[in-house]
Amino acid sequence: MFVSTIVVGCITFTGPCKVHPVEYSRTVVFYLLAILLLCICALRKELNMFISLPMILFYVLYVCLIVKGQLDCGAAELGETDYLRLNKDEEGDLVELRDASYRLIDVLGETVEREIATISSADEIADKGNYEHYMLKEIFEQPEALKATLQGRVSEKYVLPEAFGIKAPAIFSKTESVHIVACGTSYHAGLIAKYWLEEWAGVLCQVEVASEYRYRACVVPKNTLFVTISQSGETADTLAALQTAKKSGYLASLVICNVANSSLARASDLVLMTHAGPEIGVASTKAFTTQLAALQLLCISLGRGRGLDRKKEQQLVEALHQLPELCRKTLELSGAIEKIFQPFVDKKHALFLGRGVQFPVALEGALKLKEISYVHAEAYPAGELKHGPLALIDNKMPVIAVAPNNALLEKLKSNLQEVKARGGQLFVFADHDAGFENEPGVTV
Ligand code: BG6
Repeated sequence: MFVSTIVVGCITFTGPCKVHPVEYSRTVVFYLLAILLLCICALRKELNMFISLPMILFYVLYVCLIVKGQLDCGAAELGETDYLRLNKDEEGDLVELRDASYRLIDVLGETVEREIATISSADEIADKGNYEHYMLKEIFEQPEALKATLQGRVSEKYVLPEAFGIKAPAIFSKTESVHIVACGTSYHAGLIAKYWLEEWAGVLCQVEVASEYRYRACVVPKNTLFVTISQSGETADTLAALQTAKKSGYLASLVICNVANSSLARASDLVLMTHAGPEIGVASTKAFTTQLAALQLLCISLGRGRGLDRKKEQQLVEALHQLPELCRKTLELSGAIEKIFQPFVDKKHALFLGRGVQFPVALEGALKLKEISYVHAEAYPAGELKHGPLALIDNKMPVIAVAPNNALLEKLKSNLQEVKARGGQLFVFADHDAGFENEPGVTV
């Protein structure tokens, strides 16, 4: 009796077929042990014990566990750095995730197999280095990421003609306007590019969030290039917008993207990879700055033969080459910025202001504060302050402004005076020569 109970116990325990290697070897050992004990039972003529009522209940339980085990067997093992690459015709697949395994189910409910790719830079992903979290690591990776975006696309002075692929020059030469569609941070990158495209390249540009674009009727001007921007290349609204655009008579589609072989990359006519490296943090950081560098390459490429002469191109490319180093120097300020923003910690609201190209930068600042700190934040073009939001400003409201020394500086300063007059707490990111000084209520 004793021996047969052990046998059934072993079989029941090991019944479910698991796929994790450790589970698997344990299963094999216990099955062997069970067979051995069964042999001993047979020799000791105890086999009749196996047809008693409690034993039958054990068998039922065993069969149930086996069936469950067989279901598990449909699953396959998934390593920490593996990812599934699904093709367009595989849309609608579901992934059932377990501890160390997964199972793919297609739209018909059938278990299916799909191609598995392994992320090459596994070490980079698995290791946060000395950083507290991935987002911080990714912020500090910006200088290298920017170098990677520029590499192979610019010579010392010019953007290479085929930076956007061999089909690009023919498409760009026909392009008369650009329609940029994206979500979140990528949308803000697009808003910044609008200023550059119209000012430098003389190309008409409109920018729209994908979740709006995809549900409205849109007039498409002749020879319009449809541009999507996406870190992941998988954002559902952006992808749906591209599908809509493909039926709407655009000249061609271009995606600026960080993930090779993503859905957007596969579905677009032209692809510019930002090569920022994997971005694990949910909030976009290095992806954003590399998108901006990529968009500058686009402005320059489209500006040729239009608003942008060779001299201006040279200036812009030289500035692009300096970008990684400038970014590195800016990151050196992180300790000082942390100290300056201590009074910010208890705040419940914040207002970001900017003018011109710094307005979308302010939008991005407000988005980051909301997404990361759960602090309510708004962004306004500084000139719009007087049309309502000024009423919200008092000594509890921190106001963050971006103040480069450019043609709009004096306008911005007069807006910031209005903030000071209402007792708002100003935090200004300014150029050295922009003429701002620390004073009560103003931190520069
Ligand atoms: C959001 C993220 O969910 O998706 C944002 O929180 C991101 O940070 C946005 O900008 C769009 O993502 P993607 O991959 O299309 O750039």
